[in-house]
Amino acid sequence: MSLSTKDIRAPYRDCSKSPVEMVVPSSCKDSVTGRKQSQLEDYFGLEEKRMIEFTMLKDVFALHQDEYEVATLRALRSGWYIMGGELEAFEKEFATYLGVQECIGLNSGLDALILAIRALDIGAEDEVIVPANTYIATVLGITENGARPVFVEPDAYYNLDAAKLEEALTPRTKAILCVHLYGQACNMREIERITKRHDVYLLEDCAQSHGARFEGQLTGTFGDIGCFSFYPTKPLGAAGDAGAVVTSDPELALKLRMLRNYGSRKKYENEIVGVNSRLDELQAAYLRVALQYFEEGNALRGGIAKRYAAEITHPEIVHPQLLLGATSAYHLYVIRCQRRADLFRYLTEHDIKAQIHYPIPPHLSTCYKYLGYAPGDFPITEALSQSILSLPLYAGMREEAVSAVIQAVNEF
Ligand SMILES: Cc1ncc(COP(=O)(O)O)c(C=O)c1O
Repeated sequence: MSLSTKDIRAPYRDCSKSPVEMVVPSSCKDSVTGRKQSQLEDYFGLEEKRMIEFTMLKDVFALHQDEYEVATLRALRSGWYIMGGELEAFEKEFATYLGVQECIGLNSGLDALILAIRALDIGAEDEVIVPANTYIATVLGITENGARPVFVEPDAYYNLDAAKLEEALTPRTKAILCVHLYGQACNMREIERITKRHDVYLLEDCAQSHGARFEGQLTGTFGDIGCFSFYPTKPLGAAGDAGAVVTSDPELALKLRMLRNYGSRKKYENEIVGVNSRLDELQAAYLRVALQYFEEGNALRGGIAKRYAAEITHPEIVHPQLLLGATSAYHLYVIRCQRRADLFRYLTEHDIKAQIHYPIPPHLSTCYKYLGYAPGDFPITEALSQSILSLPLYAGMREEAVSAVIQAVNEF
């Protein structure tokens, strides 16, 4: 199903000013603990009222704290911190989970995108098709290689609209880079069919979709290369920056292994121009534990999403929809509301932290002025950026907090 601007009905406004910047108040609470900073409130016996955070990594960590501590201590005590047994084991375990031949651990999700495109020799004069509605990192992966991003509007599920793909293809198109945004798998059969028919590479940005599937197949396994971020808030998150690429092509895998390590496979022999983007042992050890439990986290967030979908009944709220055949990792629960700024302010006043993913589309970002796009070029994406809002959602979020969000939104 395609999405049109009429469906969103957001009046167009200048995207250069983020509504978040305009409405975020200064909080008197500690952003990590959610507790009041002022001892005076305790002194006067005021009731302790907890801010509902957007995400609480402490709560996520607490679900399996003992195992995380054992694993990271094991890595620390090993005395070997870069390119060791933990990384090797994590790469094998993640590749086995996905059912691919190779996983190459990297520093970040952005590096995964940059190096995946570099490994395919995509550069100046080349074009890569990418969703207009995505996080800027997806586009940076293309432009860091000197290639040009060609944007395509989203469908009704906020992902790349496969029906609009073919009109974006040109003789310079080298790849389609799809993003499983907010955790939901794209329409992969259709996208796969088009990449095969036009003989272009298929890349997947799975930074938000660990464990999500299309027609039973895991995201990251459709394309020539799957790119993952393990940023701490992601469905499969590390305790710092981390990422990976996965592929079943042994030649690409070898090139990616060299690219991440100064372009060498043997110390001091540099065959290609590479970078330093190695996933370190501490993060790998942490991720080996996270890998065992992240689907549990997806299910917990899925349960909260189910409650939001069923119990938020405010007529001005538009809920996200699941594409037939797709599942979601429920990284984010993104609603739409025409009075978005009012809703954001109202939730803040009710001690509920919402976020916006994302307030400025990449084509209107200052850094991409040189691409020559103007407001109105991607009206669906622009209208979305004006009306979307992400509700608090994390594994370990208490039932009462979920109920409080539901009640607050319904009373808006
Ligand atoms: C869709 C998408 N792609 C890529 C990235 C980049 O990942 P990282 O933060 O690990 O560089 C992110 C991270 O937020 C993302 O959401």
